[in-house]
Amino acid sequence: MDRKQFLQTLGISAAAVVFINSIEGCKKPDLTKKIDFTIDLSSSQYSDLNTAGGYAYLNGVIIAKTSNGDFIAVSQACTHEGCNVEYQLAQNDFVCPCHGAKFNSSGGVMNGPANTALTKYNISLSGTTLRIFA
Ligand code: FES
Repeated sequence: MDRKQFLQTLGISAAAVVFINSIEGCKKPDLTKKIDFTIDLSSSQYSDLNTAGGYAYLNGVIIAKTSNGDFIAVSQACTHEGCNVEYQLAQNDFVCPCHGAKFNSSGGVMNGPANTALTKYNISLSGTTLRIFA
């Protein structure tokens, strides 16, 4: 292999790696995987969850604290085009900042353009350990 062939091969390989990585970045979360994890509410990483209206993202799930102190959890990816939804305390719902879809606290669609509900997850609290599971 001469120098020119080597550089061509190297360039094609680099382009293939960039292309494959860009495809991976566009993948929507795998909603078929089983959700079952815990978080420690005493950790500074989740300090937002100590305040009503606070929310956090983990493992494709948005976990939010409601005004009455309960926690709710739904899939974080909007079912329209996959943007991360945000929790709104005053309305106790989730809104998508990309195109304005709204979902109720159970994940049901209130406003389009999304037409499929978010997945709602179960929550249990033991001490400062919050379990989120399907
Ligand atoms: S991605 Fe959420 S409304 Fe479009």
